[in-house]
Amino acid sequence: MLTIALPKGRIAEETLEKFEKAFNEKFVFEDRKLILEKAGFTFLNVRNQDVPTYVMHGAADLGVVGLDVLAEKEYDLIKLLDLNLGKCKVAIGLKAGTQLDWTKSEIKVATKHVNIAKGFFEKKAMAVDIVKLYGSIELAPLVGLSDCIVDIVETGATMKQNGLEVGDTIMETSAHLIANKNSFYIKKEEILNIKEKIQEVL
Ligand code: PRP
Repeated sequence: MLTIALPKGRIAEETLEKFEKAFNEKFVFEDRKLILEKAGFTFLNVRNQDVPTYVMHGAADLGVVGLDVLAEKEYDLIKLLDLNLGKCKVAIGLKAGTQLDWTKSEIKVATKHVNIAKGFFEKKAMAVDIVKLYGSIELAPLVGLSDCIVDIVETGATMKQNGLEVGDTIMETSAHLIANKNSFYIKKEEILNIKEKIQEVL
């Protein structure tokens, strides 16, 4: 029996499709249910940023999460496999036609990715004032809340439609299969078997 935390939404669906192919079973969350138990698996439907928490505490043996979420905090976990799903990048967003003013004493950055943003500007020896937001980040520079944003860019459509343009890429990300260290030690064979089977259908 293995418990796997999946991030709500498209990545969960795409991951379940891979499990369906690999194990020849139908895996679908019913309506509003957050738990799906079938064929020796318990899938949990959790918020993206909460996946590492479930896995770290051992409430889930495995999880699926973006590298960007892992980069935000230090987690003592095992990264098993790049699922090549949800490929996107974390990038700077600016009002179209403008550029960052590196001569300013401090740059104000709105983001959900606080540590990734800090790291990027600190490497450039630039002081930052981080405004932590939880969504609709693209609004911030439009209404003067920040000079720029650091956010996920997939197609670039959200930035474009909101009068922003994509600046420097900070990191590339995609969904990875992660494991709790203890689970990996105790259920190694089972976990490696899953890894192999998923790998075959990628
Ligand atoms: C992300 C991100 C952007 C959008 C980028 O939001 O915050 O708003 O996707 O995609 P695009 O480049 O293809 O337009 P998401 O849908 O993950 O929702 P969230 O803001 O709630 O995380």
